[in-house]
This record gives sequence, C-alpha cells and structure tokens, in this order.
Amino acid sequence: MKKTVTILGIESSCDETGVALVRATRNGQAYAFEVLKNFVYTQIPTHRKHGGVVPEVAAREHAIRLPQLLDELAATPKAKASLKKSVDAIAVTYGPGLITSLLVGLEVGKTISAVWQKPFVPVNHLEGHIYANLLSNNAPRRTPNKNFVFPVLALIVSGAHTELVLMKKHLSYKLLGSTRDDAVGEAFDKTAKLLNLPYPGGPVLSKLAETGNARAIKFPRAMLDQDNLDFSFSGLKTAVAIHMQKHSSKPADVAASFEAAAVETLVEKTARAAARYKPHTALIAGGVAANIPLRKAFQRMMQKNFPEVTVLEPDLKFTTDNAAMIAAAGAVRFFNGYTKPWQKVEVDPRPRL
Ligand code: KG4
Ligand code: ZN
Repeated sequence: MKKTVTILGIESSCDETGVALVRATRNGQAYAFEVLKNFVYTQIPTHRKHGGVVPEVAAREHAIRLPQLLDELAATPKAKASLKKSVDAIAVTYGPGLITSLLVGLEVGKTISAVWQKPFVPVNHLEGHIYANLLSNNAPRRTPNKNFVFPVLALIVSGAHTELVLMKKHLSYKLLGSTRDDAVGEAFDKTAKLLNLPYPGGPVLSKLAETGNARAIKFPRAMLDQDNLDFSFSGLKTAVAIHMQKHSSKPADVAASFEAAAVETLVEKTARAAARYKPHTALIAGGVAANIPLRKAFQRMMQKNFPEVTVLEPDLKFTTDNAAMIAAAGAVRFFNGYTKPWQKVEVDPRPRL
C-alpha cells in the first residue's frame, strides 16, 4: 500500500542547528523522500575562536537559532497554520550528542508535539546519518535508484563514532565492529590541531592534504593484523605527534600521509566485512563521509572486489549534520509505528543504534 507523510525534523546534537520538512512515501518496503525544506545554521564561526565545540556555547546557540529557523519554515500565522495542517509527526534527535545541545532540540520538539497534538518520533542521530543516503536534492521520481537492498553494510564515520553495522531490514542494526578508542573524525580533528589548523579540523586537513604526498610518511594502519572488524585511531594521532617532534616534514605531507592511513584502515576493514557478510548494498555515513579520498577509495574497493553490490553515498549536502536526515529516518520509524508520547522521551547522550 502506498502512503505519503510529511515529517518535521529537528537536529541539535552538536554544532549544527537544523530544521527540515521531508515528504516520505512508502511503497511496500521501499521508501522515497522529497526534501521540501532543509535549513542548517552552522555554529562553526562561533566555535572557531575556541578551537573546538564548547558545549555550553553550543546549547545557547541552539536555543537562539532553533526558534529562528522554525520561523523561517513558516513566518506568518497563515503559513504556520498550513504547516501545522500538513505535518504528520515531529522527529527529533534524542542522542548521541552533547547533552545540553540535545535537550534544546528535544524540548522544542516536545513543545510543538504537545501544542499541535502531533505524534513524536525520537530518532538516533546515527540512524539519521544512515538514512541520509536515501536523500537527494531532486524529487524522488528523478532518483528512483536510491534504495536499500538488504542486507546493507554501513560504515559510520563521524566526530564521535566509527562503526561497521549490518542491516538485515529497515531500522535493524547489528554492530560488527567499532573503534576501541578515538573516532576517525576525532583523529582528523586532533591531527589538524597538531598541524595548527583551525576548527573544524577534518575538512581543513583534507584540503591541505590535496597538495601533499600521501606516500611521504608511513603512518601505522592499526589493527589490520587482527582478525576482527574493530578500529583504533588514537595510535595514529600519537604517531603523527611523535613524527612531528622528530622531523620537520612539510605539513601537507603529514596531512596527506595521515589521511591515507586513516582511509586505508577504514576501507580495508569494510572490505573484510563485505567478504564476510555479503551485503547487497554498501554505504558510508556521518560527517567524515564528506571526505573525498575516503569516498573514492571506498567506491574503488567495492567496484573491484564486489562489483555486484550497490554502493551508496550521501549527497554532500546531507553528509554533515542536518535535520532532513532526521526527518527521513523519523518517517521510516513513523511508518513502522515507532512513536512515543513526548512525556516519555528522554535525552540519551550514548544510545545504542
Ligand atoms: O557527523 P558530523 O557532522 O558530526 C557528528 O555527528 O560527529 O561529523 C563531524 C566530523 C568532524 O570530526 C569533522 O572534522 C569531520 O566529520 N569531517 C571531515 C570532513 N568533513 C567533516 N573529516 C574529513 N574530511 C572531511 N571532508
Ligand atoms: Zn553527525
């Protein structure tokens, strides 16, 4: 049975404030999404002077920006009334993330849910990143091939997470492996700091790496000698620090060599997971999925070893934090009955997928 719903999404887990309106259609087990509105207010300029995200400042910014962004969705009383009419449910990130930042989005979402008397759908931020792979700038009918064919193998790479996950159906996750220490995004950010690069470290380091030689320095590829699907990135960051104390390599060479080591580890473990679990779809999700060398290496490895597997990657616009991905995952949850009275929803800074 085909059915269409409209979901209002809210995201405030870290340093991006987001609201979005997504129309989702279910056709059997397939979902198609149309992003009607997607507003992101990035707090990067605010946090840059501190060299990283200051949680208290982030929460205050969310509290100021979220009502403004919601107002942009519908400015006039008439527009608000029509928005209220069209929205079927409110989807909000409840975790993982910074606790006070999450609280702002959650309380705003709960208020709308209570006042409008609309169902509330709590969404795991990482689930949002996974479903971002099904979003496109265009109307769904123009991108019919973005779909999950199960099993789906997902490599999640963000500022706080590095995980390989297997989905046998929608909204179902089996953790295959994860980092034992730092997340890969954290390693990018910390290495960028060693190189005196401004926050946010990941994209700035990657830009610098474009002019460097990735073979200049042989940094360790941690845990590739181990027969598991886990990662470790704290040793890589330490190796960079030690190298910089002993040598005066060009910063661009350090950046490129670091990036090559991080990318190779991620892609190699994904290859092993794909060989073991034989997915029909493979995807990358999370902020670090914006990294171009990672995208290219992931695609190349999959095409070479598993040409029959469909490879997805999120549009760049939906790769870093945004509310459209929360609305999309929220829509799938809503279709499957996962609503929760707003009174019963609590922030969870470290939920499992
Ligand atoms: O998903 P995200 O926006 O926030 C979290 O959920 O954590 O991911 C942020 C992380 C940061 O560590 C940032 O440095 C990294 O993603 N990142 C990148 C790139 N763009 C963002 N890392 C490497 N290359 C990039 N182009
Ligand atoms: Zn994120």
